[in-house]
Amino acid sequence: MADLTFPQLSSGLRALSSTYVERRRRLGEGAALEGAGKRAAFALFYGPLHFLQVRAIAGGLPGATVLTDAKTTLVDLGCGTGAAGAAWASACLQAPQIVGIDRHPWAIGEAARTYRAFGLPARTLKGDIATAALPKGPALILAAFTLNELPDSARDVLMQRLLERAASGDRLLIVEPIAGFVARWWDRWRPVIERMGGRADEWRFRAELPAIVAKLDRAVKLDHRELTARSLWL
Ligand SMILES: C[S@@+](CC[C@H](N)C(=O)[O-])C[C@H]1O[C@@H](n2cnc3c(N)ncnc32)[C@H](O)[C@@H]1O
Repeated sequence: MADLTFPQLSSGLRALSSTYVERRRRLGEGAALEGAGKRAAFALFYGPLHFLQVRAIAGGLPGATVLTDAKTTLVDLGCGTGAAGAAWASACLQAPQIVGIDRHPWAIGEAARTYRAFGLPARTLKGDIATAALPKGPALILAAFTLNELPDSARDVLMQRLLERAASGDRLLIVEPIAGFVARWWDRWRPVIERMGGRADEWRFRAELPAIVAKLDRAVKLDHRELTARSLWL
């Protein structure tokens, strides 16, 4: 808001929403975070929404906020501005150490600021989550609104690695929008997670939106007074 007027910010949000919905093919090239308007919209609009969604989901899954080991690391895959990782970590009774990984340098800087603002011990890594070495366990592994941006082949390999980590004791939380076109791969992995003892949920709840989010919501004719998301939890 220091650099942009409100109309510039709302047009950034329109462009960003269109990248997520109609121009999804360009997500793989990093199109979502191109330009100041889209970045501001991502930070001011989707960041708080993802925070509220992940906080509600972590609070709604039995045991998800209780660490069984004081040395637990929360691995925030595709951390973006760090909103989702900060939501889960700050909901935990004892804060885990966070490692945020993203391929986008701007996102990495924002994530570091977010974790710091929440007083969470954290480090950030610039890298491709499809191939990056993940911190050792015990870990809470979070992929919020991120796996849908990976090409199918890279996602398949990463999912296999994440399931192996979960099988050896780490906890895994995957969050995506409910809209089917965003994550066509969901129904393939859902039964696998359930067979391993995990669960799949759809969430719908009313949220008190921060003033800037409510104002942007109205400006671009979206309606997030009711938030929805779906999760896989193992
Ligand atoms: C929609 S954002 C979600 C950010 C955050 N998890 C949240 O919930 O607010 C997706 C993020 O994943 C990152 N991303 C996409 N593909 C990636 C990859 N292959 N490796 C690392 N980061 C990736 C993008 O740069 C972006 O920051």
